[in-house]
Amino acid sequence: MPDDTTSATELNSAAARQNEPHTDLLAWREEFPILAQKTYLNNCSLGPLSRRSMAALDRFQELWNEHGAQAWYQIWMGELAALREKFARLIGARPHEIAIAPSVSVALGEISSGLDLGARDKVVMADMDFPTLAYQWLAQERLGVRVAFVESPDQITLPTELFRPAIDSDAGLVATSHVFYLSGYIQDVAALAKMAHEQGALMLVDDYQGTGQIPLDVKAADIDFLVTGTLKWLMGGQGVAFIYAREELIPRLRPAHTGWWAARDQFQFRTREFAYRDDAQRLEAGTPPMPSVYIASAALDIVLEIGVERIRERTRWLADDLARKVMERGWTLRSPLDGSQRSSIVLLELERPEELVSALSQRGIIVDSRPGLLRISPSFFNTVAENDLILSALDELIAARAG
Ligand SMILES: Cc1ncc(COP(=O)(O)O)c(C=O)c1O
Repeated sequence: MPDDTTSATELNSAAARQNEPHTDLLAWREEFPILAQKTYLNNCSLGPLSRRSMAALDRFQELWNEHGAQAWYQIWMGELAALREKFARLIGARPHEIAIAPSVSVALGEISSGLDLGARDKVVMADMDFPTLAYQWLAQERLGVRVAFVESPDQITLPTELFRPAIDSDAGLVATSHVFYLSGYIQDVAALAKMAHEQGALMLVDDYQGTGQIPLDVKAADIDFLVTGTLKWLMGGQGVAFIYAREELIPRLRPAHTGWWAARDQFQFRTREFAYRDDAQRLEAGTPPMPSVYIASAALDIVLEIGVERIRERTRWLADDLARKVMERGWTLRSPLDGSQRSSIVLLELERPEELVSALSQRGIIVDSRPGLLRISPSFFNTVAENDLILSALDELIAARAG
C-alpha cells in the first residue's frame, strides 16, 4: 500500500497528466529518427536531426551535382534570403535586419568589433552568461573597454533590479542572456532593455538558449541586438548563427572583422575601395556554409509551423513535471522553482555528474553535465514517460553508489 504522501503524489501526477498540453505534438516524434533509438533529453545542447533536414541536405547535394557554381546565382542566394526571412519572422524582425554568421562567437565579434561605444566604454553583463559573450569584450579591454559583471545571488536567478546600479552613465551596452545555460532561468529582457535605454545604453541579447523554446519578439521587447544559432532548440545543426540588428543602428555598425560579403558592391570586386552594405548583411563576412543552411532552413520550418508559444506551453509542463519529481526525491534543483521563470533546462546538483551521463548513455538516455550538475532538457516531442525513465535510472544509479 502506498503511504499518504505517495498517494498524494500519484494524484498530483494523474491530475497533471490530464492537463498535458499539446499531445498532438507527439506526432512529430516520427520526424526525428533518433527518438526511436534513444531517450533524448539533451535538446539544449544539440537538437535532434529531422527527416526534413536530411531531405534538404540531399536536395542541396543534388543541386550541386546538377548546376555546379551556377546554383549560387540561380538558387543558393535565394535560399540565404529565405533563411534570413524565416528567422526574421520567428523573432518579429524585418529581413534586412538579419545577418547570417557561422557561430554565435563570430556573430558577437561582428558586433563587438563594429560598435564604437565612445566614452561610454562600460559593458554590463551577468556572471551567469555563457563565457563566449564575456570574452568578446574582455578581449577588448586592451582597447579601453571595461566589463562589469552583475552577480547572481544564488547561481540560479538574477533579479532584474540587480542590474540597475551597474547601468550608470558610463555604460554603453548591456549584453546578457535571455535564458541562462547554467540554470535555465529566463531573464526579463524587455525590462532590462527598458532599464538600459533609460540610462542611454544599448541592449544586446544572447538568445542561444531561448530561441525556439521561449517566445521573444525583438520589437515588443525593444531589443537593439540579438545573437543566436540553430544548434539547440531550433534543431538546425552546426554552422548557422544569426544576428539581429535594429534597423536604425545598422549604420553605426562598422565591423573590423569583415569581408567581401559585407561590401555594398560585392560583385564589382573593387579591391581598392570598401563600403559596407546598407542592411544587416554588412555583418556577414565570407562564403556561407550552404549544406548547413539547407539543414537549418528545413528545421526552422518545423519550429515556425508549430509555433514557439505552443512549444513553450508543452516544454514548461514537462519541465514542471521533472522539477516536481526531482524535489519529491529530495534532490537539489539548481533551477528556479517558479515554472514561469524556468525554461526547459533543468539542472540537478549531483556528485560526479559526468559518470552519471555516461552510465545513462549506456542505457540509451542522452543528457549532459556541467561541473557538479546534471542537465536535462526536454523538448516538445518528449513525454512524461521519458521523464520517469531518466528519474528511475538515476534512482538506481544513485542507490548503487550508496551501496
Ligand atoms: C548561451 C550560449 N551562447 C553562446 C554559445 C556559444 O555559441 P557558438 O559555439 O556558436 O559560438 C552557447 C553554446 O553552448 C550558449 O549556450
